[in-house]
Amino acid sequence: MRQIIVIFGASGDLTKRKLIPALYMLDKDGDRGADYRILGVGRSVYDGDSYRAYIESELTKYVKNHELDDSKVRRFIGKIDYLSMDPSDINEYNKLRERLDSLSINGSADSYLYYFSTPPKLYKVIPSFLASAGLAKEEPGGGYRRVIVEKPFGYDLESATSISREICRYFNENQIYRIDHFLGKETVQNIMALRFANGIFEPIWNRNYIERIEITAVENLGIEKRGGYYEETGALRDMVQNHLIQLVALCAAEPPVSFTEKEFRDEIVKVYRSIKPFSKEDIEKSVVRGQYTSSERNGEYIKGYREEAGVDLSSHTETFVAMKLEIANWRWKGVPFYIRTGKHMPTKVTEIVVHFRKTPHYLFNNLPEQPVSNQLIIRIQPNEGVLLKFALKQPGRGFEIKPVSMDFTYDSLGGLPTEDAYMRLIEDCMSGDPTLFTRSDAVEQSWKIFDPVIKYWNENKTPLYGYPAGTWGPLESDLLMEGGATWTNPCKNLTNTDIYCEL
Ligand code: BG6
Repeated sequence: MRQIIVIFGASGDLTKRKLIPALYMLDKDGDRGADYRILGVGRSVYDGDSYRAYIESELTKYVKNHELDDSKVRRFIGKIDYLSMDPSDINEYNKLRERLDSLSINGSADSYLYYFSTPPKLYKVIPSFLASAGLAKEEPGGGYRRVIVEKPFGYDLESATSISREICRYFNENQIYRIDHFLGKETVQNIMALRFANGIFEPIWNRNYIERIEITAVENLGIEKRGGYYEETGALRDMVQNHLIQLVALCAAEPPVSFTEKEFRDEIVKVYRSIKPFSKEDIEKSVVRGQYTSSERNGEYIKGYREEAGVDLSSHTETFVAMKLEIANWRWKGVPFYIRTGKHMPTKVTEIVVHFRKTPHYLFNNLPEQPVSNQLIIRIQPNEGVLLKFALKQPGRGFEIKPVSMDFTYDSLGGLPTEDAYMRLIEDCMSGDPTLFTRSDAVEQSWKIFDPVIKYWNENKTPLYGYPAGTWGPLESDLLMEGGATWTNPCKNLTNTDIYCEL
């Protein structure tokens, strides 16, 4: 059976940065992709040869040098074709069908995987146009017809529901793969392994032992050349409604009955449903938004957000969000989950810090209470690893207590995870495993959590704080925290735990 991957948005940023490199890496190791072809589709005017030349030049930018092998690149490029068409015009889909017929070798036994990497408004028309050209329905005994849908899945609950309704008119839920690339990251999946492949964590993984959980996913770059996209999106839609809430769910989920797609995804949705809805008072008290302003780093001028190309001079789009979430269930009642994300922060890091409760009574260093609580740090990227912070006696006289740590880094296994998130997820979709993809009820539930915040912000009812590019965001984000706590600002190096510094 041949599989044909049709990429809508074939000349876009995501295709060259992520999809093509992931497909090359899958192809490179021979048998993994089986017999397949890639058909790029888009408005840009290329023919097969010029598109292949474009892809070849982009591959060298986005795949690491040591992974590029001339003969393998040639073999891969030979599997790519291009069709110049307007995906918003129903009349163009006959052309698509003819091209697919010419690429297929076993007729209806061949499978088609459609990758939607276009502006979301097209998600509403492409499925119906595919269906009207007879390209959506799976025939008994025939190949599969699947779609991978890129985020954002809509702009709010209403648009997400309407996109979902439209796609579901032509494809069944088991044909739809909503991709959130964070779930394809090795260390994100490791949260489940850490929690459920070990006996020691589960008994203490609850409100009795955990005081708070922090999740930070920040980047040291700005919006790059994505002003148009970002103006309509902002940090909440771009990162929080999908990636960060997934991380919250993985930390908070109950153990699934088994690690199957249904049981696993049921538990994720249950967390979303347990998150306490934001009232207007909560939004004012528990959510902080910010936007980067110009600054100077190492003598170099860094533009403020409003100076970026494609951005309105008086834009109110947030490039930073921090918030407190509460999970109203037996396990987590009273344990705040603090999450934050931002562009142009001091470093690029994604990290979860689990703060355990302090000892009930403290005996050392003449202190009334344990100075620093135990922490479990899960470093998603970079320097992937896990670290446990605890206290021990300083060797020698007296009884001086010092913080120490135990750490595991992927390096110690002989290297960092090599699998790219997109590689893993595209391969899962090709083999029909939707476990690490987002189900429609999860998308809707997550919009239900954040819709009230977006609506409230749209009425400009909360301040948008400026923060100089290259800093940790507005100081107001520290005020979200209860009991005088502050954010843990991670270092690039996971094991350098004593100095949590600004880089
Ligand atoms: C994407 C967002 O989904 O995730 C980007 O659209 C963001 O704005 C990116 O930069 C971060 O992903 P990663 O894997 O680089 O941490």
